[in-house]
Amino acid sequence: SEYETILTSTQGRVGWITLNRPEALNALNTQVMRDVVDAAEAFDADQGIGAIVVTGSERAFAAGADIKEMEALTGTQMLLEGHFAPWSRFAGVRTPVIAAVAGYALGGGCELAMMCDVILAADTAKFGQPEINLGVIPGMGGTQRLTRAIGSYKAAELILTGRQIGAEEADRIGLVSRVVAAAELLDEAQRTAETIASKSLPSLYAATAALDVARESTLAEGLRFEQHAFAALFDTDDQKEGMAAFREKRAAAFRHR
Ligand code: HXC
Repeated sequence: SEYETILTSTQGRVGWITLNRPEALNALNTQVMRDVVDAAEAFDADQGIGAIVVTGSERAFAAGADIKEMEALTGTQMLLEGHFAPWSRFAGVRTPVIAAVAGYALGGGCELAMMCDVILAADTAKFGQPEINLGVIPGMGGTQRLTRAIGSYKAAELILTGRQIGAEEADRIGLVSRVVAAAELLDEAQRTAETIASKSLPSLYAATAALDVARESTLAEGLRFEQHAFAALFDTDDQKEGMAAFREKRAAAFRHR
C-alpha cells in the first residue's frame, strides 16, 4: 500500500480508511495525519466513490494526537509550521464521511470523529476530551465542534474534567448518529455508506456543504482562537509535566494547581 499508517480499500462505491497503528492505539502522529488526509482527498477526487468510512480497531478508533511526538513541540514551532493545519483539508472533504467508532475515541480521536458527517458508534465506544489532564486543551476542533454537537454545558463538563463517556451517553447527548452492536459496526457502516453512495453526487456534495455551513458558521473564528490557545500552552511547564507524566506512566504533578 502507498500508506504507512492506514489501510485503504474500496467496496463498491464506498472507500474505506482504516487507521492501523495498533501499538499506539491509533494515536494520530504526523504520518497518520498525512495518510488520512491524502487518502480522503484521493477518494474525494474519485467520482466512483460516493461515501467514505473512517474506522480504527476494536480497541481504539484513535486514542488522540500522538502525545510522545507532540510533547517536544513548542508553541512557536506550531505557529510557524501550522503543524495540525492539514486536518482542515480532511474536514473539507465533500464526499460524505462516516466515522465507524469502536473503543477509544479520545482527544484528537474524538475530534477526528467530529470532523466526519456521520458518527456510527459500537456499543464499546468511549468518547472523551482528556487533554486537560495533559495540561493543554483540545486543539483539533474539540472546544468548538463538541460545543456545537452537544451544547455548551455538556461540552464544558467533558472538556474541563476530561471524563470519558460510553456509547449510550454519547447517543443520548447527541454526539453520535446511532449506536450498533460492536460485532455489527463494520457491516452497518458499509450498509449506511452504500445507501448514501447510491444517491446523486451533486446532491451529496450540496448536502455536506450545507451541513458544514450549519455546523460551522462562526466556527472559523473559534478554530483560529483555539489553535493559538493550544499552541500557547506548549510554552508552559505544566504541558511538559503532563506529557512527561503520561510517558512515564505516572500521575502528573502540575505546578500551577
Ligand atoms: C501516544 C499513546 C496514546 C497517545 C495510547 N498510547 N494513547 N501514545 N499518544 N495519545 C500508547 C501507550 O503509550 C501505549 O504504548 C499503548 O498506546 C497502549 O496504551 P495503554 O495506555 O497501555 O493502554 P490502556 O492502559 O488500555 O489505556 C488506554 C487509554 C490510554 C486510556 C486510551 O492509552 C490513554 O489515556 N491514552 C492517552 C489518551 C489521551 O490523553 N488523548 C489525548 C491526547 S492529546 P507503550 O509503548 O507506552 O506501552 C490530543 C490533542 C489533540 O489528542 C489536539 C492536537 C492539535
